[in-house]
Amino acid sequence: MAAHKTMHAVQYGSYGGGADALKHVEVLVPSPKKDEVLLKIEAAAINPFDWKVQKGAVRPFMPRKFPHTPVVDVAGEVVDVGPEVNSLKQGDKVVSLLNIMTGGGLAEYAVASTNLTTILPPTTPPDEAAGLPTASLTALQALRYAGVELGRPNQQPKNILITAASGGIGQFATQLAKLANLHVTATCGARNIDLVRSLGADEVLDYKTPEGASLISPSEKKYDAVIHCATGISWSAFEPNLAEKGKVVDITPTMKVMMTSLLQKLTFSKKQIVPLMLSPQGKDLSFIVGLVGEGKLRTVIDSRYPLEKAEEAWAKSMSGHATGKIIVEMRSSS
Ligand SMILES: NC(=O)c1ccc[n+]([C@@H]2O[C@H](COP(=O)([O-])OP(=O)(O)OC[C@H]3O[C@@H](n4cnc5c(N)ncnc54)[C@H](OP(=O)(O)O)[C@@H]3O)[C@@H](O)[C@H]2O)c1
Repeated sequence: MAAHKTMHAVQYGSYGGGADALKHVEVLVPSPKKDEVLLKIEAAAINPFDWKVQKGAVRPFMPRKFPHTPVVDVAGEVVDVGPEVNSLKQGDKVVSLLNIMTGGGLAEYAVASTNLTTILPPTTPPDEAAGLPTASLTALQALRYAGVELGRPNQQPKNILITAASGGIGQFATQLAKLANLHVTATCGARNIDLVRSLGADEVLDYKTPEGASLISPSEKKYDAVIHCATGISWSAFEPNLAEKGKVVDITPTMKVMMTSLLQKLTFSKKQIVPLMLSPQGKDLSFIVGLVGEGKLRTVIDSRYPLEKAEEAWAKSMSGHATGKIIVEMRSSS
């Protein structure tokens, strides 16, 4: 890559402001360092975490500096490799989870660590691939926290509840739970019930009805585990629906949830709520991409936007009403 080449990127310069604060700029194309590759990005996916960082949810740690180019989930082509990179080469089509501290995905090019970059099967398009990293890895890790290991016979837990199964993470949690042969009860809005059934859910509750709000399984099963992908549901709503040693994995834990979890641990409570923070692993990304290649897992896409309209994609994510992943596509010819 020629030195000093510039690219189109979307950035924000301070906390707050939502989609209106995103600016289209020309910046230098970054250079890959040791164990990094430079990607020509073909598609990127927005996650709620991206705009929560803009809102200041992890201030003062993130973003590391302003202006910040957000987004960490990308798919594209390797166009340059840094020193000591042997596992990837120019021309490889890949999916990457970029450095969470520095982002960089809302741009034409980004540097990615080889550790969190996986070669794609030729049949996987970049938009579907870009939707994978954060959401599918969080779903996989949440299932592990719940005691589920894909491929293990006689899986325990058996009955699982997945809230917001229509969302970016819930869609993968539902599909992965079915691959593990669990009985899945899922919640979503009425418009997404058929979709969530098509992902494999055995029972679906409309979260806006009294039955949905009660979280009671239509077949009156108690849940061995809950993958809680929605927000605003209290422990007291889950607790009566849990089996004796039922566990709720909360992927958006509040301070109250942290305190409840700590107290439950200290008192050896059988039923527990467990906070989760994604700790991404390259081998898990390869595993997920393998499932996609085998046709066992798919990305539901809510909508696609060109980079020129990234602020519309940002606003859609902030609405909290996506069905699956929101994708930004880079269509530059350079
Ligand atoms: N811990 C971690 O490391 C980690 C990693 C990634 C994400 N997260 C967090 O996980 C959460 C989910 O992320 P996501 O990407 O899946 O979100 P998302 O795609 O924005 O979720 C949107 C979906 O949730 C549904 N929904 C909203 N409220 C619901 C409710 N009360 N019950 C059932 N469904 C509901 C919406 O349905 P309607 O449109 O019908 O309302 C919509 O389909 C976010 O808070 C995110 O920040 C945590």
